[in-house]
Amino acid sequence: MEAIECLLTRRSVREFLDKEVNQEDLDIILKCASFAPSAMNNQSWHFSVVTNKEWLNKMSQIIAKFMNRETYHVTYHAPVLIIVSDKRDNLIYEHDGSCALENIFLSAHALGLGSVWINQLGEPGLYSNPEFLNLLKEAGVPDGYKVVGSAAIGYLKNIPEAKKRVQGNVTYLK
Ligand SMILES: Cc1cc2nc3c(=O)[nH]c(=O)nc-3n(C[C@H](O)[C@H](O)[C@H](O)COP(=O)(O)O)c2cc1C
Repeated sequence: MEAIECLLTRRSVREFLDKEVNQEDLDIILKCASFAPSAMNNQSWHFSVVTNKEWLNKMSQIIAKFMNRETYHVTYHAPVLIIVSDKRDNLIYEHDGSCALENIFLSAHALGLGSVWINQLGEPGLYSNPEFLNLLKEAGVPDGYKVVGSAAIGYLKNIPEAKKRVQGNVTYLK
């Protein structure tokens, strides 16, 4: 897929087919994530790829309880969650991780997969919950790292319409 077309046709997807994503596609997505820019070439991010259903269900239950939302599922039932974390002492860790996440969304789309940013694993209120911290540990999030954001990834049921884009927010000085 051509790069500009890929950028303009990516959507946040929240309905997925019950179909696994193959390892070759995941490898490409993770490679694209690692080629994102990072401040001073930090590359201090970590990518945890979770496909374990038991883990995903446990995480969903913890967040559902925290958010008081009965029917919450952390990936909208997509089979893959990629958690992007970075060193807490990297002052601009969120910038680096966000660049990596965008590469994840765009490469997933180029491969015919749907994806969406999942923000809840970065909720400060969850970081005092030992069960939550244990799940992050199981997923390989290193000590001293904080979740920047996560990407749910899977085959999409349908292509969501493009959200209307805000106009009038560009200025030129020539
Ligand atoms: C920082 C950030 C956090 C987001 N968190 C969530 C989230 O937790 N759950 C979700 O369904 N979508 C989340 N989104 C997706 C946005 O809702 C989505 O990008 C926006 O509605 C525009 O739609 P589009 O991505 O299809 O253009 C998040 C996006 C960003 C950039």
